[in-house]
Amino acid sequence: MNKIKKILSEYVDLNQQISCVTCYDSSFSKILSDSGIDIILVGDSLGMVIKGEANTHSVTMQEIIYHSKCVAKNKNSAILMADMPINSYVDEESAFKNSQEILKNNVDIVKLEYKDQHKIIIEKLISNNIPVCAHLGYLPQFFPEAKDIRIYGKSDNEKNKIFNQAKILDEIGVDVILLECVESDLAKEITNISKTPVIGIGSGEYCNGQVQVLYDIIGVSENPPKFSTNFLQGSNSVEEAIKKFKNYVSKLNTKNS
Ligand code: KIV
Repeated sequence: MNKIKKILSEYVDLNQQISCVTCYDSSFSKILSDSGIDIILVGDSLGMVIKGEANTHSVTMQEIIYHSKCVAKNKNSAILMADMPINSYVDEESAFKNSQEILKNNVDIVKLEYKDQHKIIIEKLISNNIPVCAHLGYLPQFFPEAKDIRIYGKSDNEKNKIFNQAKILDEIGVDVILLECVESDLAKEITNISKTPVIGIGSGEYCNGQVQVLYDIIGVSENPPKFSTNFLQGSNSVEEAIKKFKNYVSKLNTKNS
């Protein structure tokens, strides 16, 4: 079992919720890690929140590496996860080479958006001891339009598809499953049957943890999603807001037990 899998599985065994927040620079990285955030994600949401683009598609390997380096400088003990950008994992070779490139920068685990053709790619990464988070549900790299943002898994077809994908990912041994905008009962079912820790965004409260985009939870995003809360409201500092988010996530623990 790799180190990341061991750490995250312990959270689940102890019934402790996992908190994850996106980050793109060293100043916020220090605030997030000092506030006890468990996973810091260099997300390709940087395409929107840093570069001002409409979607994640312009994000490159160089940009993910640059921002990962910035975040890694101040992350203390938090786990550092980074997105594999679009077109960086089109086949086994590119996925292996590019994930190695990302991991060289003190990144602990790579995340990629999962479609059925990625099973063989993920198996290659796992067989080379590369920690992997697989992203299911709403996949911004594959569904880039604002109209694509909706709850996934409401119809029986979509529900079965996502459920079976999660089952496969659990069986092949990914380290984390991330559910974005997945119908909450389905997210709960996936969480209940998986050995793998499941973290959710916009997928209800019944997961092993929650992930949010930093700027959505500190009131910076112009149009934050409905499922995010501005924790800066009523707080005296960004650090206090992040601690409130962490506390909110850890309380879901009692609710879910
Ligand atoms: O890129 C990102 O910020 C993400 C989160 C929305 C999970 O993938």
